[in-house]
Amino acid sequence: MVNVAACAMKVFLAPLSPADIDAVCVAEAALHPSPWTRGNFTDALLAGYDAYVMRQATGDLVAYGLVMQGVEEAELLNLSVLKKYQRQGFGALLCEHLIHRAKCRGALRMFLEVRAGNVAGRTLYQRLGFAEIGQRRGYYLNSDDQKEDAIVMAKTI
Ligand SMILES: CC(C)(COP(=O)(O)OP(=O)(O)OC[C@H]1O[C@@H](n2cnc3c(N)ncnc32)[C@H](O)[C@@H]1OP(=O)(O)O)[C@@H](O)C(=O)NCCC(=O)NCCS
Repeated sequence: MVNVAACAMKVFLAPLSPADIDAVCVAEAALHPSPWTRGNFTDALLAGYDAYVMRQATGDLVAYGLVMQGVEEAELLNLSVLKKYQRQGFGALLCEHLIHRAKCRGALRMFLEVRAGNVAGRTLYQRLGFAEIGQRRGYYLNSDDQKEDAIVMAKTI
């Protein structure tokens, strides 16, 4: 079980649309060492990836996530919670939502990659039942030009 303080705050989920991309890009730049670009998000929408935003009732962006769906597999490509909303259960909630959707669309397994040094991400995914199945050495390039390993995780869904 994860913290579900999120339930105390009214949030809603909606498919990520082109109108969300400005706010998502600002958040992305603040949250990730190698942020997705506007072009990455636009391409993801054009490719039909399953992409969702979570917003407060006021409209304030809380979180967003994207999944690429294959035949029996899905890959969680991005899961991000804005700093001020972190550690309140929203990341777990959104991830569960994306897993549920992938399962309903026929996926049997979900995969993801996470930076080896990303304790928050690794712990969250572990709590949600993902297991580490591999490592990609030097997969990520950080802003200081240092390489960082990716941990590959998977979950039967
Ligand atoms: C990783 C991330 C999505 C977690 O979202 P979140 O909404 O803060 O996570 P939750 O509140 O749902 O946390 C669920 C559980 O994950 C674990 N967790 C989350 N953040 C953690 C942290 N900073 N340190 C240790 N464990 C953490 C805890 O087990 C937590 O349960 P608890 O609060 O009951 O202890 C968020 O920190 C984030 O967006 N980080 C920047 C982007 C990123 O790294 N994304 C993931 C890789 S793509």
